[in-house]
Amino acid sequence: MIPYGKHHIDEDDIAAVVDVLRSGVLTQGPAVEAFERAIADYVGANHAIAVSSGTAALHLAALAAGVAPGTTLITSPITFVASANAGLYAGGRVVFADIDPETINMSPAALEVALADNPDTKAVVPVHFAGLPCDMPAIKSLADKAGAAVIEDAAHALGATYPDGRRVGCCSHSLMTIFSFHPVKAIAAGEGGMITTNDDAVYRRLLRLRSHGINKLDDPLLLPDQAFTDGVQNPWYYEMQELGFHYRITDIQCALANSQLRKLESFLERRRFLVQRYDSELSGIRNLRPAQQFGRERSGHHLYVLRIDFRALGVSRSSLMNELRTRGIGTQVHYIPVPMQPVYRVADEFRPCYPNASAYYEQALSIPLYYGLSDSEQTFVIEALKDLLK
Ligand SMILES: Cc1ncc(COP(=O)(O)O)c(C=O)c1O
Repeated sequence: MIPYGKHHIDEDDIAAVVDVLRSGVLTQGPAVEAFERAIADYVGANHAIAVSSGTAALHLAALAAGVAPGTTLITSPITFVASANAGLYAGGRVVFADIDPETINMSPAALEVALADNPDTKAVVPVHFAGLPCDMPAIKSLADKAGAAVIEDAAHALGATYPDGRRVGCCSHSLMTIFSFHPVKAIAAGEGGMITTNDDAVYRRLLRLRSHGINKLDDPLLLPDQAFTDGVQNPWYYEMQELGFHYRITDIQCALANSQLRKLESFLERRRFLVQRYDSELSGIRNLRPAQQFGRERSGHHLYVLRIDFRALGVSRSSLMNELRTRGIGTQVHYIPVPMQPVYRVADEFRPCYPNASAYYEQALSIPLYYGLSDSEQTFVIEALKDLLK
């Protein structure tokens, strides 16, 4: 079976994990710190905080942005449910701003309307869909005017760059950026996430929230009577200063992620090559085109998404996916629009509220794209599509 996405593990990765197992430190040791430093340096941010998943990163980022009961978080309807769930976890309301039909990213025009309708918005979460960076200057300036923080969901976009050449994650247009290291992403940690930020106070808060809300670094202690004896801090003493979580990641996961990060450029190069080949080989098929056609030289190329006009072809998406599966080719739909999920469901309002997301959803299909996809496997996928859609 050729899946739509897959991680790539080699002997270096295995050796790195085995080294940690022999080191005597399994969690919150040197590999976690090394991974945080490596990501901060790679993307060009002051701080990076590693956590147990991209979802945990989004949850903590929403809290640090001030999302709470009585406030709103705005995200894109075309994303994985986690981008929206962060708002609910933090006790807020979630509102969606429709996508731009050419980029499949949050449309600044739709965001402007959503912000005007929801003056209690505390966080805007644009998602760099399939690795293509959003229009961050426009989104940041709208969020600034509304007094909302920007949290970039870069789960798909490690290695992507903005038009000015800076890397996604540097937070030049956001308060925080989050990444995911789930196996299907650019690099794998097993499970894992990261938040980057340039804000010292946010960094300190995230460190506390990651570990139960307990004081970290030189945080001032709130209860000096309990904390000190004769002016010296009691050796056992720690303080839970707010309700936090256990979202720590282990040294085992970070050893794998560090080893993978060293290969990121070759992973990205192969993905770029495969994307260009799909573009040229599939360009002759009628009623089919890449969902994102512009700016992809800057993309992290997490997914290769097609837009197929199934109606014009007289073929259902389900029958095409099943036929491809019979031939050993896995495909997927990224994503069912989040407002259509039962938890968020706005029933019949979905289509008129999000016309671009709705039109995109009817046509989307992700085909295999990953570092280990061989030339001959890719040819097999291309030939199958040509055959079934001719
Ligand atoms: C856009 C997006 N955001 C967030 C996440 C959550 O990441 P994780 O699976 O590491 O929790 C994902 C995961 O698929 C994602 O695709």
